[in-house]
Amino acid sequence: MKFKRQHVIITGGSSGIGKATAIMLVQEGAHVSIVARHLETLETAKAELEAVKVYPEQHIICLSADVSQHDQIELAIARCVEELGPPDILIASAGISHPGYFHELPLHIFEETMAINYFGTLYAIRSVLPFMQQNKRGHIVIISSGAGLIGIYGYTPYSPSKFALRGLAESLRGELKYFGIDVSIVYPPDTDTPQLAVENLTKPHETKLITGTAKTWSPEGVAATILQGLLKNDFVITPGLEMKLLQGWHSMLAPVINWYFDKIVKGVRSI
Ligand SMILES: NC(=O)c1ccc[n+]([C@@H]2O[C@H](COP(=O)([O-])OP(=O)(O)OC[C@H]3O[C@@H](n4cnc5c(N)ncnc54)[C@H](OP(=O)(O)O)[C@@H]3O)[C@@H](O)[C@H]2O)c1
Repeated sequence: MKFKRQHVIITGGSSGIGKATAIMLVQEGAHVSIVARHLETLETAKAELEAVKVYPEQHIICLSADVSQHDQIELAIARCVEELGPPDILIASAGISHPGYFHELPLHIFEETMAINYFGTLYAIRSVLPFMQQNKRGHIVIISSGAGLIGIYGYTPYSPSKFALRGLAESLRGELKYFGIDVSIVYPPDTDTPQLAVENLTKPHETKLITGTAKTWSPEGVAATILQGLLKNDFVITPGLEMKLLQGWHSMLAPVINWYFDKIVKGVRSI
């Protein structure tokens, strides 16, 4: 078991993809720290993790912090390290999405999405880095999205934040390699989580038709792909063939994808 006795910190570990990944890592024998804002959800997730422990000395902790506040996430990670030792793996899964029409969405949605999805990930990485550098090893996993590979109608706050993570991962990979630290970036497709349910409340009809063309994954399916990617030390982790093709060919495919998306939107607009 590669993950046995490793300390894994997961931001956004109280729900969805982060929680599913936490459960699988606990089942593999890892010590897991989960960080998110709401204490009640964290405590519920912690109980779920405790229930799948595979040996008595395995530790699970949960800490409340807002990743978009540098001091909060830095302090939370310092506490995780105090309790469970330096992290072997960071999985930065905390994120939000609020789709809508660009001209209708208030500016604060764009600012908040970038603050949580991009800067929240960056702050978490900066907070684990000194410990990983000291140990000369570690693995950082950044959760982007299929919407970080192509811009999608209705996702003007979200897509740019996930594109930014791609830029961060690609530029960071080579730098951290020389400290013995690996970087991976994950491009999940639509996944059946509380985030997707919240998205559906404000998603434009056109966006629903566009995203409805692809299969919705389970959080467990995405988590299993993340663990496989970690084991193989893959830089790019793509759940499913669609994401694999999109990741490899997005620029080449963009004209066809845009034509197809425009066709869907035209169908709605001309009704
Ligand atoms: N679901 C999808 O279709 C999909 C597709 C592609 C990529 N993704 C990405 O996958 C990641 C996980 O998404 P999910 O679908 O699993 O969402 P989710 O079920 O809503 O979980 C999001 C997690 O992030 C935490 N979080 C949100 N804002 C935070 C903040 N400011 N500080 C700390 N924690 C925060 C949430 O807890 P609190 O609210 O308590 O803080 C929760 O634990 C996100 O980065 C998302 O963009 C999701």
